[in-house]
Amino acid sequence: MSIRGVNISIKGLGYRYSSRGNPTFSNLMLESPRGEALAIIGRSGCGKSTLLHIIAGLNRPTEGTMHFDDKKIEGPSSRWVMMFQAPHLFPWMKVSQNVGVGLGFAGWPEKEKAERVAEALKLVELSDYADTNVQDLSGGQQQRVALARSLVMEPELLLLDEPFSALDAFTRASLQRDVRSIAKRLGFNLIIVTHDIDEAVLMADRALIMAGAPGKIVHEFAVNLTDPRQRQDPAVQSMRARLMDAFHTAAQVAGAPAEEVAEEAGAESSSVSQHA
Ligand SMILES: Nc1ncnc2c1ncn2[C@@H]1O[C@H](COP(=O)(O)OP(=O)(O)OP(=O)(O)O)[C@@H](O)[C@H]1O
Ligand SMILES: [Mg+2]
Repeated sequence: MSIRGVNISIKGLGYRYSSRGNPTFSNLMLESPRGEALAIIGRSGCGKSTLLHIIAGLNRPTEGTMHFDDKKIEGPSSRWVMMFQAPHLFPWMKVSQNVGVGLGFAGWPEKEKAERVAEALKLVELSDYADTNVQDLSGGQQQRVALARSLVMEPELLLLDEPFSALDAFTRASLQRDVRSIAKRLGFNLIIVTHDIDEAVLMADRALIMAGAPGKIVHEFAVNLTDPRQRQDPAVQSMRARLMDAFHTAAQVAGAPAEEVAEEAGAESSSVSQHA
C-alpha cells in the first residue's frame, strides 16, 4: 500500500445547523501537516463531531474554506475516511468481503482486490479470520475489520469519532496503540475526536482543546512522547495531567459547572487507567 498523508489547511470555518440559530462554531482556523496525528478534545456538545463531519466532506461549512494540499474540499472522497463508534459492517458477509467492499464498488479486479484485502488484514492482525463471518467476532475484532476496510482505500486521512469508546479498556488500549503505529508506518494523517484525555495522549502528536459555544480551539499542546507509549510512563502521566488541567480550565471558562466537567474528563480516563 502506498499512503502519503496530506497537508490540511482550514481557514475561517463556520457552521450553523439552522439559519436562525447560533453558530456551532465560527472563524475556526486549523493547520495540520502531512502525517500528523491530531487529537481534538472537548466536552460534550462543543462541536467536535460537527467539525469532523465537515472535514470529512459529509457536511458543507456555512463559511470558510478547507484545502488538502492545494485541493479545495467540497465533498466526501475515499481519500479521507471516517471511523465511527460502531463498526457498521455487513453482518451477512465474511471478514474479507467486508474489507473489500469499497474496492468492489471501485471496480477492482478480483485478484488485485484479494491481494489488497490480505495486506490490510495483516496490518490489523486479522489474517486468520479472513473467512470468518463478522457476526462471530468480538466488538474489538469488528472495529479492526472496520479499520482494515478503511485502510484498503489507501486514505490520506483517517478521521476517528470516539471510535473505541464502546470497547473494554484492554481492547481499546490495543487499538489505540495499533492505529497510531499503522498510521505512522504508512504515513497518513489522523484526526481523533475524543473526550478521553488518555486517548489523546496515547495517540496524538498534537492535541487541541475545544470549548465554548460557539466552539473555539482554546489550547494547543505538542504531545512530544516517544513510541510505544505506555500509560504508566511518567512522561505520559505528566502530559495527561497538563491536558487535564487545561481541559478543566477551558470548560469552566466556557461556563460548565465544575462537577460536571470533572465527571466528564476524569471518570472515563481514570477507569481506563485502572484497568489497562
Ligand atoms: N443535526 C443537528 N441539528 C441541530 N443541532 C445539532 C445537530 N447535531 C448536533 N447539533 C448541536 O450542535 C452542537 C454540537 O454538536 P456535536 O455533536 O458536534 O458535539 P460534540 O462535541 O461531538 O459532542 P459529544 O462529545 O457529545 O459527541 C450541539 O449543541 C448539538 O446539540
Ligand atoms: Mg460527538
